[in-house]
Amino acid sequence: MFTSLRSRLWLTYFLIVIMVLAVCAIGLIYALRQSPLLYRQVINQIDVSSELLVRRLDSIVDLPTERFILAFQNESRDIDANAALFNHDGQFLVANITGSEAALQLIAKQIDFNAQDGTDVDLFGGGERNKDWFYTVRSIGDNYYILTAIIKPVFQFSAIVKDEFMSPLLQAGAIVLVFAFFISLLISNWIALPLKHITKSAEALAEGDLIEIPLEGPKEVQQLAGTFNLMSTKITAGAQSQREFVANVSHELKTPLTSIQGYAQAILDGTVESKPAIDKAANVILIETNRLHRLVMDLLTLARLEAGTANIQHSEVHIQALLVNMLDKFSIQAEKQSIQMQMDHVPDVVIMGDGDRLAQVFSNLIDNALKFTPENGQVHISAEMVAKNIMIKIADTGLGIPEVDREKIFDRFYQSETSRKYGKKKGFGLGLSIAREIIQSHYGNIWVEDNAGQGSVFVVKLPIHRNKS
Ligand SMILES: Nc1ncnc2c1ncn2[C@@H]1O[C@H](COP(=O)(O)OP(=O)(O)OP(=O)(O)O)[C@@H](O)[C@H]1O
Ligand SMILES: [Mg+2]
Repeated sequence: MFTSLRSRLWLTYFLIVIMVLAVCAIGLIYALRQSPLLYRQVINQIDVSSELLVRRLDSIVDLPTERFILAFQNESRDIDANAALFNHDGQFLVANITGSEAALQLIAKQIDFNAQDGTDVDLFGGGERNKDWFYTVRSIGDNYYILTAIIKPVFQFSAIVKDEFMSPLLQAGAIVLVFAFFISLLISNWIALPLKHITKSAEALAEGDLIEIPLEGPKEVQQLAGTFNLMSTKITAGAQSQREFVANVSHELKTPLTSIQGYAQAILDGTVESKPAIDKAANVILIETNRLHRLVMDLLTLARLEAGTANIQHSEVHIQALLVNMLDKFSIQAEKQSIQMQMDHVPDVVIMGDGDRLAQVFSNLIDNALKFTPENGQVHISAEMVAKNIMIKIADTGLGIPEVDREKIFDRFYQSETSRKYGKKKGFGLGLSIAREIIQSHYGNIWVEDNAGQGSVFVVKLPIHRNKS
């Protein structure tokens, strides 16, 4: 029943209002019990009655006792309280209401007439038949005391609260509940509206659309909306990159497969007959198959690195030896392309990592440098220690990389327009993505430095494990 935010809020307010009203009612009963307010009328009545009696009898106080008693009886008949006359020894003389004598005498017995100042109304507990009495004592002349008393009325406090206060309390409660209804409406809208936006955006996301949620409502909901926006953007970007990935892979597979298919078909149906033609066809098939094999291996490596399942060794790698090997490996290729390759002194440091994977990174960087540098160009390898890292630079005097492409070239399959056209040797655009993954798994970093259009400079930063030099 109370499933919506609004109804639950309202239920909460309802319970709070009921609780507050109950506490008010209990507080009222308690306050009334303590307060002299309810007895004020009785106390006044005693005050007025005793004052009246004293005034009426003051002038005839010198009459003989018998006549004074008679006068007291006459004058106190219409008084609205029990009154009794006592002589100065505290001896009971007469009472105005027949039947009250015993009770008044009991009070008189317990109190000291002389100590009474004649104005206070006091309470006498446990009088006749265990009743409480309000009373006051006034002296009149030198010989008499008048005791005026009324039984303390017994109130049913819960009945008073019920009769007098229940209806205003309930009315106030009803008004507050109406207000609570509107407030719960406002608050639930404040919270629920942004939540509805999130739901809508989630539904749209399931359909493949991206809807930005406005940041509104309480702070927590705003945080949720912010996180949701971030998640949506990432999911959309992920889906987009997956689509692009599939398109790129398909594209890269298509060309070699078409060529393999064509040559195989030609051999089969006898279009190519001569030995040299068959050899040429078989050679193309082999080259394309090798290319396909490299593509599949690169994709596999990248997938494993991205998933963190690539088996990265952690052994000591001597950076100097690694780079010298690289230089040897590419020297023939550089010579063929008439590119001068040189290496500065490299500090002899050891890092912890996977030698083969790091060799793959530098192979790709030097391969790129040779690939995108025209004849008579230069490739320059250098390294320096910066704090606890070694920074290895591979600079070339080739095409260079425009600023807009400096981050993109690390994306899968990305090849810059200029390099595509230049294309000495067609790559897949996967080498740098693999390199970044490998370097990051070694807690390092790789980036392209600004080289003011004078070729490219790639920097690899790796944490040093040990310095041997
Ligand atoms: N030294 C460089 N000079 C100019 N452009 C470069 C250089 N290195 C990389 N690039 C650009 O970055 C792109 C991506 O490089 P990456 O090594 O990832 O791919 P690739 O060399 O084209 O192919 P693959 O490495 O998969 O065989 C290149 O296609 C090229 O556009
Ligand atoms: Mg490459």
